Amino acid sequence: MKDVTAIYPGTFDPLTNGHLDLIERGSKIFDQLIVAVLINAEKDPLFTLEERLGMLREFTAKYDNVRIDTFGGLLVDYAKQVNAKALLRGIRAISDYEYELQMALMNRKLFPDLETVFMMPAVSYSYVSSRLVKEIARLGGSVTGLVPQAVEERLQSKVNGKSKK
Ligand code: PNS
Repeated sequence: MKDVTAIYPGTFDPLTNGHLDLIERGSKIFDQLIVAVLINAEKDPLFTLEERLGMLREFTAKYDNVRIDTFGGLLVDYAKQVNAKALLRGIRAISDYEYELQMALMNRKLFPDLETVFMMPAVSYSYVSSRLVKEIARLGGSVTGLVPQAVEERLQSKVNGKSKK
């Protein structure tokens, strides 16, 4: 029997219902799924690394085969370190495809034994992105239904806190 560990890498700034949908799908087909948050100070995230890890841990606690981790440097090096055989990435629309294809082929060039597996989120999340969720929240719009309620609350206090500075 094969025991396949997959990595679902990303920034998760913040976690959306689209990410959670993909984590649930991934947890069903892989033996182990590692949700790996990129440590990258350059991206200037809204949520700190600890906050993003906390949200991920909170909302994935119900999956026995999902764990949360961080990585820095090349994703392929991290994959070797944790003995992962697959990378999980979500494709929402055709516009995601070009970037995802380039990344998948580059990762294959760097580490041919690592397979990228694409999954589509539920149609209802096909237009959800962390970037848009942050923009809407900053401009006072509602993100209800796009992120878990607790994330929505943290997003509100984050953007309110920032605007008071
Ligand atoms: O959530 P994101 O921002 O779409 O995730 C992008 C991520 C973290 C998967 C990508 O930036 C990445 O893998 N970064 C690590 C550095 C690396 O390996 N770069 C070469 C990719 S071909």
